[in-house]
Amino acid sequence: MSSTKLIASKSQGLHGRIRVPGDKSISHRALILGSLATGTTHVSGLLEAEDVLATGEALRALGAGVEREDAGWRVSGRGVGGLNRAPGKLDFGNSGTGARLMMGVVAGNDVTAVFTGDESLSRRPMGRVLTPLKQMGLGVGEDGDTLPLTLTGSTDLVPIVYELPVPSAQVKSAVLLAGLHAPGKTTVIEDAPTRDHTERMLAFFGADVHTSRESNRRSITVTGGSALSGRDVVVPGDPSSAAFLIAAALVTEGSDITIEGVLINPTRTGFYQTLKEMGADIAFENERDEGGEPVADVRVSSSKLTGIEVPAARAPTMIDEYPVLAVIAAFAEGETVMQGLGELRVKESDRLASTLAGLTACGVQASAGEDSLRVTGSSAIAGGATVATHMDHRIAMAFLIMGLGTEEPVAIDNAPIIATSFPEFAGLMGDVGAAVQEST
Ligand code: S3P
Repeated sequence: MSSTKLIASKSQGLHGRIRVPGDKSISHRALILGSLATGTTHVSGLLEAEDVLATGEALRALGAGVEREDAGWRVSGRGVGGLNRAPGKLDFGNSGTGARLMMGVVAGNDVTAVFTGDESLSRRPMGRVLTPLKQMGLGVGEDGDTLPLTLTGSTDLVPIVYELPVPSAQVKSAVLLAGLHAPGKTTVIEDAPTRDHTERMLAFFGADVHTSRESNRRSITVTGGSALSGRDVVVPGDPSSAAFLIAAALVTEGSDITIEGVLINPTRTGFYQTLKEMGADIAFENERDEGGEPVADVRVSSSKLTGIEVPAARAPTMIDEYPVLAVIAAFAEGETVMQGLGELRVKESDRLASTLAGLTACGVQASAGEDSLRVTGSSAIAGGATVATHMDHRIAMAFLIMGLGTEEPVAIDNAPIIATSFPEFAGLMGDVGAAVQEST
């Protein structure tokens, strides 16, 4: 993407069968667990976006082999506790997932590493991960809550029982990854089920990991000391990337698209449930299992939507989809109210504020509370704005979708940021017939 700006204009009749790139969460985990395994892991469908490549670089700096090969990626693992080459500085770019999961890995290895990131990542809270990891034995050079941080791992970690104070799969995963290196059982308890790819993949790689459920409350226990073995991992299509294409089809007249091979793990499908409640014509076809995760082809057509109340309890299953849901809600009839959005304040940007500002700039009637967003739909939205992305890929893509349905085009101020998660975005939008173009 050479230009720093992209602009989207009114479009109609999007059509095609497409695939979106691999799931970001699963891609990070495939490289990490492959590096902690003994033997070789082959990964097909890995998301080759900046966030995931930064995790690959970090693992390489710690001594794992992470290489592109013809049919995907080959990871040569070093075994649990074997990532002990002195890495110096590890740069995670824009990626909270990469930084936080790798803190759990470094915690259990005999290394010191300086964790750094870009301006956006350097503002995000790391205390939520450092608090449990320090209890386990991680050494933290500085007092602060933000990057850069100098972290020193230990070969003598203590297993803990940790109740998540915030619903975060990143925190859960960091503790479980550290727990893999500690003797005995490490347990994470969550009140709201967050994405469960770490526990699924740990089991797939042969770790001793168990989940017990009591209604929505889950306890995940990993027993340290068990060895992981290299595996072949197939990464399904990212539902959070598919969400933008789905939104595009919903807000442009005469559209009918199918996205093949999308992950439909129930901890990630709140967005689809919400769209159905709004009246969207959306269906999962050809449901199947691929590499231990459920996938489907998602078919969606332009639909007449009605505003609804999205309950707070659903937030963990669609946390990355709220910006684009807000855009969809702007085209629905009536009001959409989204509750339980506190975590949006600490994403790549303050996503609640960035979404509200973008909506307002485009002429949409909207308001936000501390952790809620209210959007009033309209059949004619002005557009004609350049939306500030605040180094946030999902804000960038959400407001390009907005421009497909507004009276005047919508531009974004930072197109390259999209490459952190979805480098193919503009190309795929063009493939289905959406008017997303470079502008200087
Ligand atoms: C992710 C977890 C979520 C999500 C992020 C990816 C993961 O963050 O927003 O994009 O891969 O574990 P939190 O765990 O902070 O909610």
